[in-house]
Amino acid sequence: MKKFLLIAWFLISISCVIASAAERTLFDDGWQFAFGNASDPAKDFGCGTEYFNYLTKASSIHNEGPYSPKFDAAKWGVEWKDIDLPHDWVVDLPFAKEASHSHGYKTVGYKYPETSVGWYRKIFFIPESDFGKHISLQFDGVFRNSQVWVNGFYLGGEPSGYTTQVYDISEYLNYGGENVVAVRVDATLEEGWFYEGAGIYRHVWLDKADPLHVAPFGTFVYADMEYPYDNIKVTVETTVDNKGLDNADYQVRNTLVAPDGKEYAFPVSEEKGVMAKSDRKSVVSMNLENPKLWDLDSPNLYKVRTDILRDGKVVDTKETKTGFRDVKFDADEGFFLNGRNVKIKGVNMHQDHPGVGAAIPDALQAYRLKELKKYGVNAYRSSHNPMTPAMIEACDSLGILVMEENRLTGVNDEHIRQLRRMIERDRNHPSIILWSIGNEEWGTEWNDFGRRISESMREYCHRIDPTRPMSMATSGGPTVVVPVDVAGYNYVVQNPIEEHRKNYPQRKAVGSEETTGCGARGIYYDDHANGYMKAINRAPSGPDSIYNAIERGWKFYDERPWLGGLFYWTGFDYRGESNPMVFPATNSQFGILDYCGFPKDEAYYLKSWWTDQPVLHIFPHWNLKGHEGEEVDVWAYSNMDEVELFVNGKSQGRQAMPKNGHLSWKTIYQPGKIKAVGYKNGKKAMETVVETTGAPACLELTADRDAIKADGKDVSVITVTVLDKKGRFVPDANIDLSIKVEGPVKILGVGNGNPTFQAKERPTDGEGKTFSVKTFNGLAQILLQSEKTEGECKVIVSSEGIPQQTLLIQTK
Ligand code: GAL
Repeated sequence: MKKFLLIAWFLISISCVIASAAERTLFDDGWQFAFGNASDPAKDFGCGTEYFNYLTKASSIHNEGPYSPKFDAAKWGVEWKDIDLPHDWVVDLPFAKEASHSHGYKTVGYKYPETSVGWYRKIFFIPESDFGKHISLQFDGVFRNSQVWVNGFYLGGEPSGYTTQVYDISEYLNYGGENVVAVRVDATLEEGWFYEGAGIYRHVWLDKADPLHVAPFGTFVYADMEYPYDNIKVTVETTVDNKGLDNADYQVRNTLVAPDGKEYAFPVSEEKGVMAKSDRKSVVSMNLENPKLWDLDSPNLYKVRTDILRDGKVVDTKETKTGFRDVKFDADEGFFLNGRNVKIKGVNMHQDHPGVGAAIPDALQAYRLKELKKYGVNAYRSSHNPMTPAMIEACDSLGILVMEENRLTGVNDEHIRQLRRMIERDRNHPSIILWSIGNEEWGTEWNDFGRRISESMREYCHRIDPTRPMSMATSGGPTVVVPVDVAGYNYVVQNPIEEHRKNYPQRKAVGSEETTGCGARGIYYDDHANGYMKAINRAPSGPDSIYNAIERGWKFYDERPWLGGLFYWTGFDYRGESNPMVFPATNSQFGILDYCGFPKDEAYYLKSWWTDQPVLHIFPHWNLKGHEGEEVDVWAYSNMDEVELFVNGKSQGRQAMPKNGHLSWKTIYQPGKIKAVGYKNGKKAMETVVETTGAPACLELTADRDAIKADGKDVSVITVTVLDKKGRFVPDANIDLSIKVEGPVKILGVGNGNPTFQAKERPTDGEGKTFSVKTFNGLAQILLQSEKTEGECKVIVSSEGIPQQTLLIQTK
């Protein structure tokens, strides 16, 4: 018996060794951060002022800058802060009127050299037993112009803030000792015209593998999808890197793992004599019967496990998540998913959130998608850059279609390198249905340069991923039709969509941008001096304005079956581009949801026409103090057949709801109550009441998740709602809240959706146990992040004269 146990133990140990042949570790914790300087090398820790500056030799180990092991932080009298990634330093910077409008008036960029360069350092240990392995660092995204060193050795850099970069560090490590990685990040120049943050705002990974290993982004899984999909041919392409010093013979063994855990083996490929420092691609296929398709309501995910075997032993293993679905665009019938006609009901999104800026934790990415899904959104355009990998994974698992966008439309080596990295990194994701080569390139869109560049990029896209169509979002070329697989129209008011349909009937198309309307949640009277746009009847510059109502877009696309659908500009508000407002407005007001994800009225327009749930939403709110006796338009967004409105008990008439429309009644404001009664098939089906409320008297705290992982990463999103003493939502409550947390959690950040927000967004004391935020029109948001201990946590929120409220959250 003892002998048997010993053998079993031995076998388990062997399998652990084999399984750990490739090891991926999240490298986010335990970094230090300090500001350098963008204009004065002497203030940039002297970098570049040494006799040999940090670029004159491949190794700077004898220098003294932050990239060097010799660096003495104390000498500089500069504070290095302990931080964990993801990190966006701009969140803690103040706002200023003379700062960049497009970036939300944050004090970063060329006018602020002292806050535009950041240095990151991390000390890490590599055991002696790792010697001989291939070790690399992957940066999912750093904004921007990053340069990286390990132990003083320059690894290279990544100019783009959106491109994932991998560095081989095997030769530069101290095995059995301490190592230092340093990253210099320079956010002086903007890459976009929207808030972009600054810093290592996405994950970093440490990868350890055999010198013979699957190359970074070296797997490509795809299937030939023929209706009725009962037998599909699945292919896996595997590129293996031989980074060793000898030529290698090896086998590539791919296994498909179904959602229920069942495994299917691909044929094993044998590769002989792959030379040192070279790579080789192997291609295998097999038939899969009755696959579980990836779809919007059933996002089934498969995995491909790739084992690399040398002399019969597994030396490297890599898992690729994927899914099988059929995606087609048709010039007459629009978009098809798995043979079913589906209208794309999408939104554009930038990648920032209150309290954290661009450094969005994974749980918050999922929260943002789940909020959008509530209103029927089924698609996401990553305007105007490659996405954070964690967000694509959330789209895969929540059943959201993705149009992923490249940053710049161009064909020089640098542009194609970035396009290739995006596609090779992401082409296994079932959620991605379209690659976009760019957005509104005004310099080329309307001339022959544009035609040539797009044609060329189209071919690159097809070579790198022959399975998906590509597109480009254009702002209305009058003469030149950009040669793409699927046209992307930014706004019906500026693109000759009908004319193109007539002249180019084979042209497939989607609406890559369409207006939502524009305005601040709960604001019903313009207050431009203070940065607010009213959220009703908005048409600041006539019926053709892109600031006109949300209905025009959906009606247009819904009435034309040949169009695949549309992506509204935007799902959430974002920082920057407060157009047409200027300072003190710091956020855009384009969102269907505000910056926190609280719904504006438009969200209920979409919910009415994009979901099957009964909706009866009336607005404005009825706390219009100071407007007594004035005429007020009351609107209803609803999918009832008819709606009758009562104001202070008096019927204002019963009206039939037009398809994809809204109803409105002209009324006179007096405090009291408005009530809408919705009818379906002539029968009363729903009632909504909006009343003039009393003063704030009570707080309500709710969490999107009341139990989160005790991993120091997970986030619970807490909503604070202000109620009056009768328990009614107070839609104009702007009150100060004090927040205190107890237990193993910290306050990660706060927000309230106010587009003129200029307060501090997160605690900077490191502890994060107390903070404050003001509600904006009755709501505020607290992002709570777990520490690495399990336990019961309390969130205690109070406001002067109002009883404090406590919410319990578990970390597990
Ligand atoms: C579009 C542009 C977007 C955003 C929007 C604001 O033309 O593609 O990025 O700037 O205008 O209206």
